Amino acid sequence: MNATPTTVTVTGAGGQIGYALLFRIAGGAMLGPDRPVRLRLLEIPQGIAAAEGAALELQDCAFPLLRGVEITDDPRTAFDGANVALLVGARPRTAGMERGDLLAANAGIFGPQGAALNEVAADDVHVLVVGNPANTNALIAAASAPDIPQDRFHALTRLDHDRALGQLAVALDVPADAIRDVAIWGNHSATQFPDVAHATVDGRPVLDALADRLGGRDRAAAWLDDEFIPRVAKRGAEIIAVRGSSSAASAANAAISHVRDAVLGTTAGWTSAAVVSRGEYGVPEGLVSSFPVTSDGSGYRIVEGLELDARGRARLDASVAELAAERDAVREMGVL
Ligand code: NAD
Ligand code: LMR
Repeated sequence: MNATPTTVTVTGAGGQIGYALLFRIAGGAMLGPDRPVRLRLLEIPQGIAAAEGAALELQDCAFPLLRGVEITDDPRTAFDGANVALLVGARPRTAGMERGDLLAANAGIFGPQGAALNEVAADDVHVLVVGNPANTNALIAAASAPDIPQDRFHALTRLDHDRALGQLAVALDVPADAIRDVAIWGNHSATQFPDVAHATVDGRPVLDALADRLGGRDRAAAWLDDEFIPRVAKRGAEIIAVRGSSSAASAANAAISHVRDAVLGTTAGWTSAAVVSRGEYGVPEGLVSSFPVTSDGSGYRIVEGLELDARGRARLDASVAELAAERDAVREMGVL
């Protein structure tokens, strides 16, 4: 057992994703069964009571790894000594809204939080932005934290990655863990590119398995273009329409998997995460884009050298254009 607790800060801890996250973090699902955790919950004043209620329930679970829960509405207090920061608190999208509509509402949150992280977080802090528009919020937080290495700032596209696995598992009638090396490229939005060009199922190309199952390569290609890609890319809106509010348990599960694989290492091929580009695959430097990534336990590295065909390239370019437009919009607001 590692004696020193890891400090995990969760913003928006009183919200629905927060409620689905806290108990699994305290139970060891994120950092492993040997790491004690200290939780810091950041909320705005209206959310404090909900966070306090969750803290009471955390106490009632008597988690052996939990070494305390603090609740605050002050970012500097919340991020003091943070080793992991999950930036969830934001205004969620409601029916009919696109992520771009959220830019103005959320841009003001992530600059001050990035600055507070810069001042008081631990030297090894890992930051995962979940609150939407997640990629651009991560860009703002990273830009506001000049002393923290840029590669410590990520945005969540693991949910999109897992959604892609879930759709393929049903289409191929296999368990999800039979499928490897799916990739999500670009923005966590409807422009994202869920890519199966390099994916395998039980070691065999997914494209071959789909062709067998669907009656040929043309049918497989049509299914990917007309059903799989739009279903994955618009799954967030589908959940909102069906459930009446945005995804929560699946988002929390993906956030936990993202951090676990970043700090403990990936074990089965690659996963997907939005990281600060250094120009990989022609994505302009500084944009926070999703790529296929792996980790040896010291953070994510982009899988380099993959071929993108002309259609894949066009899809990635379209999503990157959206990311650049979001960056330009927040620059115009004077946030960057
Ligand atoms: P929610 O409304 O249930 O909870 C958000 C919480 O954040 C609220 O309790 C609110 O009081 C708090 N909050 C607002 N501003 C804050 C601030 N400045 N500091 C601290 N806390 C603040 O929303 P939710 O369903 O938990 O979703 C949270 C965010 O996650 C939304 O932006 C949503 O769109 C996003 N999301 C992202 C993904 C993804 O895959 N990246 C998936 C699902 C949801
Ligand atoms: C999701 O993908 O479920 C979230 O980003 C919520 C949304 O607004 O789509």
